[in-house]
Amino acid sequence: MNAAIRALTRTAISHHMEVIGVHNGYAGLLEGEFQTLRRRDVGGILQHGGTFLGSARCEIFPTKEGQKKALQQLQNHAIQSLVVIGGNGSLAGGWSLQQQGIRVVGIPATIDNDVAGTDMTLGVDTTLNIALEAIDRIRTTASSHKRGFLVEVMGRDSGYLALQAGLAGGAEAIIIPEVPITPEQVVDIVRDAYQRRKKHAIIVVAEGAQCNVERIMAYVNERQADLGFLLRTTILGHVQRGGAPTAFDRLLGTRFGYAAAMALKNGQSGVMVAQQQGTITTASLEYVTSHHSNVNLELLEMARVLAR
Ligand code: F6P
Repeated sequence: MNAAIRALTRTAISHHMEVIGVHNGYAGLLEGEFQTLRRRDVGGILQHGGTFLGSARCEIFPTKEGQKKALQQLQNHAIQSLVVIGGNGSLAGGWSLQQQGIRVVGIPATIDNDVAGTDMTLGVDTTLNIALEAIDRIRTTASSHKRGFLVEVMGRDSGYLALQAGLAGGAEAIIIPEVPITPEQVVDIVRDAYQRRKKHAIIVVAEGAQCNVERIMAYVNERQADLGFLLRTTILGHVQRGGAPTAFDRLLGTRFGYAAAMALKNGQSGVMVAQQQGTITTASLEYVTSHHSNVNLELLEMARVLAR
């Protein structure tokens, strides 16, 4: 997100716009936590993850009272346009402000990659690489000790991260919310891998899957099921969201930030900058907030074939 803020700020300033950073997301907007941003204020941040402006979940913002307060703050500070960087909740908030007269441009940023209208969201690539490195490291113990591992990755209700990490990490199975599976079937896959003389079984489980890590472990423990492999779990958690952004994410953030400033300069609003088939473009916020982004299930089938 820092790369996007830097590019947005410097591009907007070079087109004679004044840029004000809002600290702590919508929560900060409601409290008027504003800071004028100049070119030098956004220096030295490109290599840092997260956002130097801070971020926060805000429950009041979607309420009538929250919306009123937000509009009041924007009016008081003579702010006509707002660039919202975030996932589906933040973008829906942006769309609602747009409908109330604020010119809004969205930048999709979430590690879940579940925003409609864009192939990629900011942060996904960094997270994916961290998850992948973790899977590679886990495989060392899995192979040498002949173990099965359930590796839980984030993603909220989306299986995107699990699917990509599992495919790139050569997982024996990938469990995602979009495709139901039973603990019994998971156990069968692990046992089958053992019987086929695999050295390990890595199962990547999306946190949002109904058949999650707890359910699988409960099933195995209740029945004292013999899988061949001893089964362990690793929950990657917030480790996935930390550290330096990858080159891909820095470039995407830079391109998104630049595109957002250019959209405003060209009089566009009610849109989200997006990447579609390698090209940076815009999608309407109305479309984005009323559609779901689906994972490519062909990849799951590919992973199944390759795990044999
Ligand atoms: O939406 C991004 C995300 O990282 C999800 O993958 C995860 O479920 C959630 O946020 C974690 O939220 P929090 O940091 O508030 O616990």
